Amino acid sequence: MQATRIAFIGGGNMATAIIEGLRHSQGSGAHAEPPIVVVADPTAARRELLTNVYAVEVTEDNSVAIVGADVIVLAVKPGQVQAICAQLRPTLAPDQLVVSVAAGVGTAVLQDWLGGHAAIVRAMPNTPAMVGCGATGLYASPALTPTQRGQAESLLRAVGLVEWIEQEADMDAVTALSGSGPAYVFLVMEAMQSAAEALGLPAETARLLTLETVYGAARLAMTADESPAQLRARVTSPHGTTERGIAALGAADLRGAFLQALTAAHARSQELGRELSGSTC
Ligand SMILES: NC(=O)c1ccc[n+]([C@@H]2O[C@H](COP(=O)([O-])OP(=O)(O)OC[C@H]3O[C@@H](n4cnc5c(N)ncnc54)[C@H](OP(=O)(O)O)[C@@H]3O)[C@@H](O)[C@H]2O)c1
Repeated sequence: MQATRIAFIGGGNMATAIIEGLRHSQGSGAHAEPPIVVVADPTAARRELLTNVYAVEVTEDNSVAIVGADVIVLAVKPGQVQAICAQLRPTLAPDQLVVSVAAGVGTAVLQDWLGGHAAIVRAMPNTPAMVGCGATGLYASPALTPTQRGQAESLLRAVGLVEWIEQEADMDAVTALSGSGPAYVFLVMEAMQSAAEALGLPAETARLLTLETVYGAARLAMTADESPAQLRARVTSPHGTTERGIAALGAADLRGAFLQALTAAHARSQELGRELSGSTC
């Protein structure tokens, strides 16, 4: 079987995370044949770094990068996608799969910018992808073949968990949850650490205990048979310290705060989508 050829347009953070993930997933047998990777990026230093570290092919010409590619990954800032689509449009073949990781750019808009191209997947990864622990929502345009669905899935699975989203409108909720989610968790970490410092712990001790507590709780929640609610109940003994702490979080309406946070992020994601598509309604 011939190796899949993957062209990245933009060689920044997200592209590098996926390339790194693809390299690691070779050993796990996720890809029968290692994919051939080519990266297009305007910055010479970045191209040099990518060739030196990952031994990928590089070019500064986006149209050259996509020649013969099975999968084309648009890994540039959302505001650059339209111009890049105009550049790729004349050489894009109907059977080439376009995977866009650009936040807020819908598949109908991409299809329009790509001159009616039908094979499009929209992905919403998150920053933990950089350490192979990403959580990605994927939405496929209806025209995708099963092979192309598999190609998109194994590409993003190289950097973590993948969930297919059936309704594209739900990508705004994915953005609000897992796209923005790492920042919510970082904020919780900051809050825990500074509260511990206020109680007198040295800053470094508070930092290390916070990090390990969040990491350990996440690992436990992922490996245990019980739900987070059950795990919480198990560590909350009657009249104990955790019960008091949890009651204080309840009184501060933590759940309400998260509902507000996700609702606000969801609304902003919808708004960005409208801005990028040029629609005002
Ligand atoms: N980072 C995340 O966690 C995350 C999560 C979800 C979605 N995303 C999406 O992923 C996309 C990329 O984000 P990122 O963090 O990887 O951004 P980034 O680090 O800025 O990478 C973008 C790369 O594209 C290059 N570029 C600029 N113009 C180009 C052009 N015309 N042709 C080809 N390459 C070009 C940039 O080069 P210069 O630096 O020289 O301009 C840069 O190396 C964004 O659309 C973002 O919404 C990112």
